[in-house]
Amino acid sequence: METKVFQPDQLTAAAAELAAGELVAFPTETVYGLGADATNEAAVKKVYQAKGRPSDNPLIVHVADVATVKKYVATFPEKAVKLTQAFWPGSLTIILPLKPGAFSKTVTGGLNTAAFRNPRNQVTLDLIKKLGRPVVGPSANTSGKPSPTLAKHVLHDLAGKIAGVVDDGPTGVGLESTVIDLSGPTPTILRPGAVTKADIEAVIGSITADHHQVKADEVPKAPGMKYKHYAPNAQVYMTADADFPAAIAWAKTQQVPFGVLATDEILAGYPELEPTYRFSLGDSIVTASHHLFDGLRHFDQLPEVKLILAQTFSVQGLGAAYMNRLAKSAGQQHFEKTGGK
Ligand code: TXA
Ligand code: MG
Repeated sequence: METKVFQPDQLTAAAAELAAGELVAFPTETVYGLGADATNEAAVKKVYQAKGRPSDNPLIVHVADVATVKKYVATFPEKAVKLTQAFWPGSLTIILPLKPGAFSKTVTGGLNTAAFRNPRNQVTLDLIKKLGRPVVGPSANTSGKPSPTLAKHVLHDLAGKIAGVVDDGPTGVGLESTVIDLSGPTPTILRPGAVTKADIEAVIGSITADHHQVKADEVPKAPGMKYKHYAPNAQVYMTADADFPAAIAWAKTQQVPFGVLATDEILAGYPELEPTYRFSLGDSIVTASHHLFDGLRHFDQLPEVKLILAQTFSVQGLGAAYMNRLAKSAGQQHFEKTGGK
């Protein structure tokens, strides 16, 4: 299958592919999603196939408005009213109990809940409106690889497997949305994102967060939490600012080219490193989040790179989401001064 690249003014053609049961990747403010008509089970099945995604990992349902959510859910609690008013359209995905049979098992992974998201991207909101039905959209990467923040990342992973991608340039945040579960007694963050715990608590009061690394024999609240994510080909070491001198000295003894993923300020200290082995995270947690997945993908293009030193940030605000994704890409490994591992 030839994968078409649709420009934002070609949404009629992109919506026609979705209506015909084909897959079209779409931009959002977080990462690119892999779209299918949520009401067409055969189309949704293709999403799992194209990504190589385990079938028990449910998909996020993307909607153009709150009214669509109300058609499918068993209840729309007061907290959902407040959170959607405060953060939609935006990077907050909300899990709610469904009316029986609202979506196929292929969408929900057999759960009686679904995750809803109203992305802050006008092109995609228009695409969903043109289709007139909700659109499932996991991140548009091969399962286990970093999420795509550029249309070229989508094409790298999925060209030939999907009908098209709507190219709206680089995404904004660069990390996937915050996922909050409102289906139980206590609202719980299952995945940290740009809408932070403090942002949410300012609107609905105290909540909990549960996004620890799930063990192999544990049943996770968000099925996706048990899978290895964002895994580049090289081993990533999380490296604190103060540890870079020791980490770089150690990496130089390893007899293999290594990559450094850090802010301009850190990179400026190592002018001897080849440009292709340095990838800038910019100058702040905001730019670092925007560039993280692109940086991991950059080093995947360089098979000789066997290790990557990647900068840590404090686990505050957006830093919670950045560190969550970085820790997954590193398999939780930190560089420590004591000999490297
Ligand atoms: O920013 C985003 O959320 C992107 C863009 C494309 O919208 N989408 C995205 O989707 O990251 P995905 O499928 O890669 O991640 C969805 C996460 C998974 O960890 C999944 O297990 C969890 O949400 N999830 C989905 N439905 C759920 C449900 N009913 N209960 C618990 N977790 C659920
Ligand atoms: Mg994903």
